[in-house]
Amino acid sequence: MPDIDPWGDVEIGDYSEKMDKFGIDPISDVEERLPDNLLVRRGIIFGHRDLDKLLDARDEGEQFAMMTGIMPSGVFHFGHKCVVDQIKMYQEMGAQITIAAADVEAYNTRDMSLEEARELVIEEYLKNYVALGIDLENIDFYFQSTGGNEYHLKSKQFAKHLTQNEVEATYGSAEPGKITSALTQYTDILKPQFDGPKPTVVPVGIDQDPHIRLTREVARKYRDAQFHKPSSTYNKFMRGLQGGKMSSSNPKSYIALTDDIEDAKKKIDQAKTGGRDTLEEHREKGANIQEDMVFELLAFHLIEDDEELERIREKYSSGEMLSGELKQIAKDRLEKFLEKHKRRREEASEEVEQYLEEHTGLDR
Ligand code: TRP
Repeated sequence: MPDIDPWGDVEIGDYSEKMDKFGIDPISDVEERLPDNLLVRRGIIFGHRDLDKLLDARDEGEQFAMMTGIMPSGVFHFGHKCVVDQIKMYQEMGAQITIAAADVEAYNTRDMSLEEARELVIEEYLKNYVALGIDLENIDFYFQSTGGNEYHLKSKQFAKHLTQNEVEATYGSAEPGKITSALTQYTDILKPQFDGPKPTVVPVGIDQDPHIRLTREVARKYRDAQFHKPSSTYNKFMRGLQGGKMSSSNPKSYIALTDDIEDAKKKIDQAKTGGRDTLEEHREKGANIQEDMVFELLAFHLIEDDEELERIREKYSSGEMLSGELKQIAKDRLEKFLEKHKRRREEASEEVEQYLEEHTGLDR
């Protein structure tokens, strides 16, 4: 079996081992050239390939792009929010933004019709993206199914530049639907360069790295255009609220941005913490922050201010603060966040409907 299966369950214990194995560079290399961003500051974005090339282009005033894809899988939760935060960061840096809705991939690799896939993308992803502050107006958004003739032709031509060995070494013996999805994804990643070569970054979880590696191969070998090899960044996966994997198929493992507030608070109450078994032991040893999913939620999404987070870390890891108190902080923050999001999502809804009508010609 290959080391990383982009369609399977991925749980990474040791990120640095994967970085060494696949030649991913530490983000600290380029950190000071990036905007001040929580995900970078806290090491949540930990690695990259060739991000310096994109930053060079930015510094020279040349065009550069960011591209990502949406795989419709269940409801939109905090684990999905990381990518939105990154899109916003690149949008503010002046990148051209391209977003592909992976309806063809969903059709080929999951039990889903194209229509179901599209509805899920719109209701669960696009509307939440806009509610979180993505400005659709300057974005190239498309569904894989309606990507256009050039797009579909290239997705077939790219097959010529892969060998059986590469494919097997990267994906194992993947079935045709997966290989087709992979070729479609390479085309997504190179699409920002159809109108001319430009550095493009693809922010992903490390599960998608196999696709990044082969897209770079295709870009190098394809002779009908001069593509830059795509750059990439890698973010850590948020773990599930009960420890282990955060998974769309297990509602207790995540908080959706559309969860009812009381339900969401209950999930916090039931979350795995690093608190000790007895009060005495907790006061003595302090919390095990590494294994605390509530702290993880605060650090990834709910506390922007580093000093504030640091104060909490100190109190909690020294035993002065109890898990119940940490949970209360999380619940208060979460309530504010979800209330605001609910309002924004209602406003976003109409904007998205109108955008789709004008830009995608999708008959819904
Ligand atoms: N395969 C990706 C996923 O499962 C979705 C996707 C499709 C994608 N095209 C892409 C991601 C291009 C990044 C870039 O999440």
